[in-house]
Order: sequence, then structure tokens, then C-alpha cells
Amino acid sequence: MTGMVDLVIRGAKVVSAEAIYEAAVAVDGECIVAVGDEALMPPARQVLDADGLYLLPGAIDSHVHFRDPGYPHKETWRTGSAAAACGGVTTVFEMPNTNPPTGTLEALRMKLEAARHSYVDYGIHGLLGDDTIDRLEDLLEAGVTSFKAFVGNTFGNLPAPSDGALLEGFEKLAPLGIRTVVHAENSSIMARREAQLKAAGRRDPLAHLDARPAVAEIEAIGRVVTLAEWTGARIHIAHHSAADSLFVLRDAKRRGVDVTVETCPQYLLINTDHMKKLGGLLRVNPPIREPRHNEPLWQALQEGVIDMIATDHAPHTPEEKSREDIWACDCGFPGVETQMPLMLTEVNRGRASLMDYVRWSAVAPAKAWGIWPLKGRIAPGAHADIVLVDMNRRATLQQGRLQSISRISPWHGRTVVGTPCHTLVRGRFVMREGQLVTDAAGWGASVKSIQKMPPPRPRNLDTTSSAIRRAPADAPASARAAPGAQDSIWADESAYLHPLAPSGARTGGAS
Ligand code: NCD
Ligand code: ZN
Ligand code: ZN
Repeated sequence: MTGMVDLVIRGAKVVSAEAIYEAAVAVDGECIVAVGDEALMPPARQVLDADGLYLLPGAIDSHVHFRDPGYPHKETWRTGSAAAACGGVTTVFEMPNTNPPTGTLEALRMKLEAARHSYVDYGIHGLLGDDTIDRLEDLLEAGVTSFKAFVGNTFGNLPAPSDGALLEGFEKLAPLGIRTVVHAENSSIMARREAQLKAAGRRDPLAHLDARPAVAEIEAIGRVVTLAEWTGARIHIAHHSAADSLFVLRDAKRRGVDVTVETCPQYLLINTDHMKKLGGLLRVNPPIREPRHNEPLWQALQEGVIDMIATDHAPHTPEEKSREDIWACDCGFPGVETQMPLMLTEVNRGRASLMDYVRWSAVAPAKAWGIWPLKGRIAPGAHADIVLVDMNRRATLQQGRLQSISRISPWHGRTVVGTPCHTLVRGRFVMREGQLVTDAAGWGASVKSIQKMPPPRPRNLDTTSSAIRRAPADAPASARAAPGAQDSIWADESAYLHPLAPSGARTGGAS
């Protein structure tokens, strides 16, 4: 028997992507030190009785907006990460459309300063845009874990990178193995349609969907997949929403393109039927679509075309979400605190297994961002990022109880069965018996130091923007033809005929 450890959690059923089994889990310091028979656990300073609960790796949310710097009236790192802690989420990856956007070293410094208040661990997506191409390496050096390209216009109005800049960005990131999140909608299609809808006087919530049809997503995904495949860059499709664009991703994955894909509870469980009652509250990018899209997204998760669940936690104040004119409502709503109960409810309904859920919420994101195997699994040596869930607990989601500053949610009033009750981040309780542990604010740390992406696989290096600046060794020194070249270069060819021409014709040649 080893020495005393900090904590033993006993009585729970441990869930991995492959199995559910009864085991005790011993935690010492920041890590899990043993998983197994309760009788074999080391003595512990603290024992948590978890009879009847399931013990899962904490969820890893690839997509949150914590708004600081720039919009602290919408959210802060303290409130956003408190929502994560109470939602069973132990690591978040935060988006760069803050103000200033996370595309300069100074903006990154401000963000890392704000993130010091976090309850949960975090990665930072830096901005990939025309203006940041020359700073990507510096931003990585200074702490970003990954990049985000706003190919489709959305909150923050960051200009979409040109295709040329996107290609160049991918060329730079491919040899580094770094993954880029893409908001994949076609901005030009959307701008044109939005102008037409406004001119026609459309102000109703469905006008937002009409401005952003599925074809905008199909086209943008096709384009970024092409650039990723050519360069060998890793990409991640944010908030996948349309059934119609799944085929592009299925084919890309079959060809070996390293593209990971997330969808969010709102695209699985909400559709235009809900628009009549909720209006601008449901304004989000990409838009909430027709009911026919929901089921294929579930199937794509099962099939592995969609890899994971993220939330696109995008808080705005109730006032910003409830304006009369749809074009005046800010896009997005909070989600990091409600994802787990919503998804566990679907598990209880038989939509998926708890093992599927662990694959989608923890294993796949940990692998995508290079923080596996330290995070995303329950095993000796891994970080003690743990959520204990009660699959029988029934509750009604209440927007007034959210930790987020934005206490407005389309899920308000929805009954869930299955809720997180304790959350630990690297061995420390950040939520206990449903209550936020307020003195754990600031415990969260960047995952940058533990990130290890798999070996990069860049392609077509001889055609990159940096490679073409150097002329090849055998390039002619100037564009002027050599003296006499015009009549002499074909002299050696006995016949300049199509290779399939009859041989008689070839020898006859053009003599
Ligand atoms: C997001 C936001 O508010 O920052 N809004 C949204 O509608 N999803 C931006 C984004 O993810 O596109
Ligand atoms: Zn987006
Ligand atoms: Zn987002």
C-alpha cells in the first residue's frame, strides 16, 4: 500500500469511450494516481461517496466566448468559467473575437491576464486573418494553442481572411502541426442576401436564416477543406449546422484530410419550429435551420463525421437579445453550463450511450487540441479533471440561475434528466454538490505547456508563398529568350505530333 493520497472517490461507475465499470478513483495533487477496486485504494485524507453516480472525464469545450477583453458587460472569464465549472466542463478553448481581437501580442497579453481569473483550464485560439499572417509564430510562442479563421462574418465583424491569406496561413501552420478553427460560411453570399432582405423590408427572425442558407456552409467548408488538403494543415469546423454539407466532410475524412468537426446542442435539438416563440433569442451563426437538419447531425456524430460536441457559448445581455428587429439582435447565446444536462437527457432518452457522450465531450476534443492523454480520460497519470453526474436527477433549466452574466437562454424551462453534481479541475473541486466553489476562481491554467500535437504532415512545400520567393537553381536568369531559341528548341523533335498519332505519321514528321 502506498502513502496517503488527497482524495478517493468511491462507489461511482467510471465511464470511458469504451466501457462503463465500477471502480474507485484515487487523486493525489493534480493527477489521478489509481483506478480500481475500492479495497486496493491507498488511504486518503478525504473520501467522496459517489454511490449511484457516474464518473466521467470533465468535458472539454472547443468553442466558448468569454468576451474579455472588450465586452465585460456580456461575460468575463470569472463568470464564463464559473458557468463551465457548474456545467461539468473542465477545459475550454476561447475565441479571439474579443476587443482587441486576439491577433496581436498585446491583445494576447490582455487575454491571458483576464484568463487568470478562470476556474477551469483553457486554451486560447488566436486570430488568423490577413493582418495576422506574419505574427502566427510569435502568437504561438506567446501562448496561443490554435487559431481561428472567421471565414463567415459574425459577431465582432472581423473581416473574413482572403482566400490567399487563408492559404498562406495554412502553409505556415501545416509544418507546425497547429489546428485552425474555421467559422465556415460564405461571407459574400450572406452579405448580398442580407442587403436584399433588408431592402425588401424583412425584419422577422426567419430572415436571418434566409440570409445564411446551407449552401453558404457547403461552399465554405469545401473551400477550406481544399486549402487544408493541399497544405496538409489541420482544421476544425466550428458549429456545424447543415445536413447538406456533411458529405463534403465525409469525403474529406476518407481522403485523410485532418479535419475535426464540432456541432452544438442547438443544432441537434432546436429548429425553426422554435423560432416562432423565441425569435431573436435564437439568432445565432450559423442559423438555426429547418427540422430536417437535426437527425442527420445525430447520425453524423454516431458515424464519426462529426467528432465532438462544443457549445459556442456566445453570451449577450437580455437587452441585446430581445430587440424588435432581427438585424439588431446580437448573434449567439450562452451554452457552456447547459450542454451536459441537455446531452445527458438525450442519453437517458436512448439517443446515444454515455460512452458516446464521453467520446464526443472529452476524448475527441482532447485529441484534436493535443492535450490527450493528460486530459480527456480517467486513468492513472492523467489530470484529475473529473465530473460526477447523477443520471436520475430531474431538473428544470432556469436562465435566472445561470452563472453567466447573460441570464437569457433558449433552454429556459426545459426539463432535463441527468445533471453534473461535482466538478474537479486538476484535483481541485470547482463545483461541489451543485454549488460553485468560489475560492477556486483563478485555479484554471493554460494548457499550452502540456499541448503536444501529433507530428505534422505538411504537403506541397515547394509551392508555398515562402518557397516561391526563391528562384529554383535551374531557373533562367532572366525572362529574355536566349539568342536563336525561337527556331532551335524544337530542332531535336523528329515529329511534334500527338503521341497517339499513327507511327507512320510520326516518322513522316514535319520535315
Ligand atoms: C458568436 C459570438 O457572439 O461571438 N456568435 C454566434 O452567433 N455564434 C460568434 C461565432 O461563433 O460565430
Ligand atoms: Zn462562429
Ligand atoms: Zn462562436
